[in-house]
Order: sequence, then structure tokens, then C-alpha cells
Amino acid sequence: MTGRNGPALSAVITLAVVFGLLLNTAMNESKANQAHATKTLEQRVSALLGEMTLAEKIGQMNQVNASDHEINDHLREAIGAGRVGSILNQVDVDAVNELQRIAVQESRLGIPLLVGRDVIHGFKTVMPIPLGQAATWNADIVREGARVAAREAATAGINWTFAPMIDISRDARWGRIAESLGEDPYLASALAAAMVEGFQGEDLADRGTIAACAKHFAGYGAAESGRDYATTNIPENELRNVYLRPFRAAVDAGVVTLMAAFSDLNGVPATGNEFLMRQVLRDEWGFDGFVVSDWDSVRQLAIHGLTENDKESVYQAVMAGVDMEMAGESYLDQLEDLIGEGRIDVAMIDAMVANILRVKFQLGLFEHPYTNPAELPAIANEHALQTARQAALESVVLLKNDRGVLPLSAEKLNSVAIIGPLADAPYEQLGTWIFDGDTELSITPMHAIHSLVGHELDVRYLRAMENSRSRASVSFDEAVEIARESDAVILFLGEESILSGEAHSRADISLPGDQAELVRRIRETGKPVVAVILAGRPLTLTNIVNHVDAILFAWHPGTMGGPAIADLLFGVESPSGKLPATFPRMVGQIPIYYNQKNTGKPPSPDTVVHIDDIDAHAPQLSFGMTAFHLDAGYTPLYAFGHGLSYADFEYRNIEVSASEIGLGDTLIVSAELMNKGDVAAEEVVQLYVRDLVGNVTRPVKELKGFKRVRLEPGRTITVDFQLHTDDLAFFGRNMQRMTEAGQFHVWIGGSSETELRTEFRVVDKD
Ligand code: NOJ
Repeated sequence: MTGRNGPALSAVITLAVVFGLLLNTAMNESKANQAHATKTLEQRVSALLGEMTLAEKIGQMNQVNASDHEINDHLREAIGAGRVGSILNQVDVDAVNELQRIAVQESRLGIPLLVGRDVIHGFKTVMPIPLGQAATWNADIVREGARVAAREAATAGINWTFAPMIDISRDARWGRIAESLGEDPYLASALAAAMVEGFQGEDLADRGTIAACAKHFAGYGAAESGRDYATTNIPENELRNVYLRPFRAAVDAGVVTLMAAFSDLNGVPATGNEFLMRQVLRDEWGFDGFVVSDWDSVRQLAIHGLTENDKESVYQAVMAGVDMEMAGESYLDQLEDLIGEGRIDVAMIDAMVANILRVKFQLGLFEHPYTNPAELPAIANEHALQTARQAALESVVLLKNDRGVLPLSAEKLNSVAIIGPLADAPYEQLGTWIFDGDTELSITPMHAIHSLVGHELDVRYLRAMENSRSRASVSFDEAVEIARESDAVILFLGEESILSGEAHSRADISLPGDQAELVRRIRETGKPVVAVILAGRPLTLTNIVNHVDAILFAWHPGTMGGPAIADLLFGVESPSGKLPATFPRMVGQIPIYYNQKNTGKPPSPDTVVHIDDIDAHAPQLSFGMTAFHLDAGYTPLYAFGHGLSYADFEYRNIEVSASEIGLGDTLIVSAELMNKGDVAAEEVVQLYVRDLVGNVTRPVKELKGFKRVRLEPGRTITVDFQLHTDDLAFFGRNMQRMTEAGQFHVWIGGSSETELRTEFRVVDKD
């Protein structure tokens, strides 16, 4: 709206609009408050529903793309006529206020709009990508990041974000793993709940809180071969034990909306999947918010081959429980006929519209439909930037650190070379899904290193490659020269942001372009080489891992990635991130994840033979006969939960409070953690369990708890976890969730590879 006017004129218009709207808001507020005081939420919902025509009900189920800079007449008219319940992708606050004004003042019933946007990991201030946030294993910082994002987004009139994305993914080829919280249902559940709490706050009606949307329901992360939108086949048992768990956690945390996935689940695309949305979500979990489709995914039911045409697609989606259609308008076109023909009962539509209205009331939209940005905290304020910096700091994972080459010492070195395409790339460090991210706010590692140590060290910088995919190695000689003249080299490698995210899957997840060649050339200088890798997914690093001394894996770390990385490189802080997803040695190992099943022929070091060591004269079956690859073994390059520190942590003395507990009892599991190093640092202590025998086979290890603790050098603490027998429950053969009596192993340690183990027994006292 204001974009084409000069700034001064725009400010005057903004003031006038806001003043006018506020006056209206005050009147609306007092009217709404009076109504509110006497009626419960459900009474308000049904009273409003009782006044609505069928067309107005269908209008509430329609979400429209409003991304055009100028508000077009078609949109004005549709909102005024009550044919739009929600818009998405409009972020000009004046435009949003104007659209709300039309909805509130010009439509017959004055129902305000839900204003949706993909605020995935920040609005203007960008936090690390969600996968990076998961590497913090810190629900508090994740919650705060979402809170900051909500407040900033709310200044634009946004009242609904399409986040958190909580699809479990065991396949790093999938571009959307960047948006996910990783491979583990326990970790993803804890962080999903934290994100929901951060976006939605204590009370959705508070200013600066926005509705969250748990997506994509469900199974999308299991796309075949990691190709986005591809088919998923997940047995119900696995679906419930793994993929649905974070959604359950989000619902329990009060999330008010869910988004149906694009993908085909076991032959029934999620958008038409009654089992998911009616049986599980409504009947079993008691969800009373609403479900939105993904972008045009209702009409895509016909493309999937589930239906013949739009009308049948609408029928399937409504019957399955998709309350609102995103960007397809087929509900608008088809629903009335389907109801007229008696195929869809109007009572079903009433219930679906009630789900939508309920959220609008909960958001307090009827009381305050308009936005005055001045009432909210300033964008990118000190707190927002500090939150982004802390999240980035805790998200970086130290994968390896040979001979303690890190941290670099500004006192001992005279010079350092910064080389690589991602050292000074303000846009790339923000990662995928940053529609509104402000690149101007980005502090790059190159700038941050200069400010941190530039006065003590000679810092030289060469980009060396245009981007991460470049094949032209013309600058490599110059890079080698700079490296030779420096005491240490920091290589900034990885993937540009466009290589991950929606529809950006890769079949080869090694460093793209000529980066491995750059590493090899720099290695030849004999200088200490540190690789800082910025990427949207786990990468296969096998071809470079032995050519660098240390690797800091920084994901796409967001606005404040630079200062966080600089602090870690030079030892102002110690790394404390832990991997939320397994790093394979090579793509052929995928899917590879820590909580796999044992198989009947589990591999072990003595059964594994490498392809180069096969004795051609020995009988063909004289080795192995276990579940491994001849050319990759069975272990990953870096396991789930892995992450080193500058401190030297040692775990010992694992204990359980009892060797036997009854069903319904709580066990305390503890271990000592000692910092044998000479720096204070944070460590993520992890608790794993194995249920040795089950009526369906159980994973070899399952995360059941984690705690982030800080430990001074020379100190030892005891870390304990409470484990209730309900925490051991799983969906068995009959699809009932239960804990079975029997023997359990339990581990505590700093990664899923921990061997510090004890055991206990659960007995059924009845
Ligand atoms: C499609 C994506 O799958 C979904 O995650 C996103 O929220 C919508 N588009 C809206 O942009």
C-alpha cells in the first residue's frame, strides 16, 4: 500500500490509518468485551455460527493468497462479501489493517481475518534454521527464538505462522530436513512444544503472540529417497511410535492449528486422510483447533490419482477433516453443491467452521483486529539479536578437533587466513524460508572475526569461489598463497541456502562444486586447517574429513551467526551443540539413524569386512553375514547426539535408584559428569534406553531425556533423570500404547554412542 509513496507521505498515511483504526478498535473492544464477559468461548462460537449463511461458512474455510503489493479489487470484494476466512503472505501492516477493516466493517458479520505467513525461524531477526536450533538441545532458547519471531511478525499484522515444522526426517537428501527438528521423536517433541509455547505465549489473546501451526501432518519427512513431495509408506506402528509423536506433543502444548501434508501416506494422500485427521487427531487426541491444507493440496488429490476432479477432491478433503483450504478456492467452488446434493452434511461444515472461529476468538481478533506496530517491541532489538546470537552459539557442533587445534589463540598466532564462499555471505547464512529476513542485519563470520581479533592478528580474506557450487578453481592458487603466508586457515564451506528447503533436495550431499579440491589444495600447505561448514542438512564429509584438523558444523546460523562462530573459533565460548540427525559416511547408507532396530543379524566390528579387504580365494560366505555395507560398514561418520567441547568431559558411575520397579513407578537414573579440562563449558547430557524384548521389536537405543549443564574445570556433578514407566510406553502389535514389563538397558552420556550402561527391570505387580 505505502510502498510507492514517499517515506514522509507514507508515515502520515500510516498514522492516519492507525489512528482511525484504533478509534474503531476501542469501540469494537468495548462491544466485544461486553459480549465476552457474559459468554463462554463455545457460546460465542455457536452464537456467531447461528447467524451465518452457508456461503459465509464456506467463506471462513477459504484462505487466499494476498501477496500482491497493491490490494486488488477482487480481494476487497471477496473479503467484503464474506468469502475469505484467512489471507496469507501479506506483510505490509497498512495493507493488512485495510484488509481487516474490510472484513470487520464491510462484511455482513464483521469476522476478522486470520493472517498467515511462513515465519519459520525468525521474521526480520533470523534464528538458526530449525535443524540448527534442534542442535542446541535447549528448549528454553528455542522457545525464546519463537517468541521473538512472533513479536516481530505481529508488527506486520501477522497472527498465524505456519510453524513449527516437526516432520521426523531420517534422510538428509530431503531439502526440508533444514526446517525440521531432526530424526528423533523425543527431541523433536520437546522442541516442538517449546516452539508452540514461544509463538502462542501464555495467552493467545496477548499482543505479540500468534497462532502456531504444526506441520506437515503427517509422515512427509519419510519421502522416498528424500525427493520432496514423494510417496511415503509408513506402517501404522512406526507412524505412531515415531512420526506422530511430535504432533501429539504440539497438540498437548496447545497448538491451535495443524497443516495437512502434501505427501501420499500409505496410498491415501495426507490431505484426504481420514485416519490421520479424524481418527487420530480428533477422536484420539481431542484436538479442537483447525486443520489447514497445504498450498492447493486439496485439488492435488486429483493429481495424486485419488479423485477424478476438484469436486471429488473437496469431498475427500472435507470428509477427512481439512477445515480450511489454502490457496485453491475449490471449497468455494464446490462445497455448496456437495452439501446441496446431500453428500456432505451441513452439521459437519458447522463443526469445521466452529474450529476456525474458535481460534479467531482465542486470538482475541474480535477485540483487537488491527495492528499498531508501536505497541510491540522494536524489530531486531537488543534482546532479539542476543537471542539469535545465543541460539547460534549453542547450535554449532564441533565434529572433530585433532590435536586441540581449536580454539585458535589470538595471542599465539600472528595471522589467519579466512577462505571460502560462505565467510562473508549475509544472505546465505540465514538459510531457507526467510521471506522477511533482513540481510542488512546479518553479521557475517568474516566481519565478526575482524572485530574480535582484527586488532591483534593479521586477518586475510579470500572468497575463492563465487558460490558453493562453483566449478571454476581459478582463485585456488591465490588461496594457497594466502594460506602459506598465514599461521592458520579457516575455511568457510558448505551449501548456499538455496540448496536446501522446499523442493531443494539433493541426491549427492557432499560439499558441492570444487570445495573438496579447495580443501585438498589448502591441506598441502601444511598449515592448521579449520573447516567451518554452513549447511541446511547433514552432509557426507568423508572426502574432506581427513584433510582438515577441525570441523565446526554451523548449519545456517542466522542473523548473528558471525559473532557466534567467531567466539567459538577463538575460545571466547566452548562449542556445545549436539547433532539432531545422523551424518552418514556416504549417501548409500541412508536411511541411517541411531534408533534403528537390531535385526536378526546385527553387525559388530569383528563381522565387518571392507570391500578392499575381501579375500578373493576365501569362500563367498566366509565373512560378515550381518547387516552392513561392504563399502561403508554400519556406523555413520558422526552419530546422533555427537558434539565435542573445549572442555574434557568424562562420564562415570551410572546408577539406578532400584534394579526393579513396578508399572506406574518412577526410576531415578544418574551418572557423574566430570570436567577434566581447563575451561568451563556447557554439555548436553543424554539418557538412552533399550527395551530388550517387546511384542513388536524395539529400537536398539531411544533417547528418553536430556539436560544442558554448565561445568567449571575440575568440577564433578551428578546428573539425574526421572524415568516413569509411562516414558517407556510404545504402540505394540494391537496399536495400543502401553509399557511392557521386562528388562531394560539404560545409558547416560554425551552422544548416542555412549557405552556407559546399567540396567533395570519393570515388573507387573498385579
Ligand atoms: C507450502 C509448504 O509446504 C508449507 O510448509 C508452507 O507453509 C506453505 N507452502 C505456505 O507457504
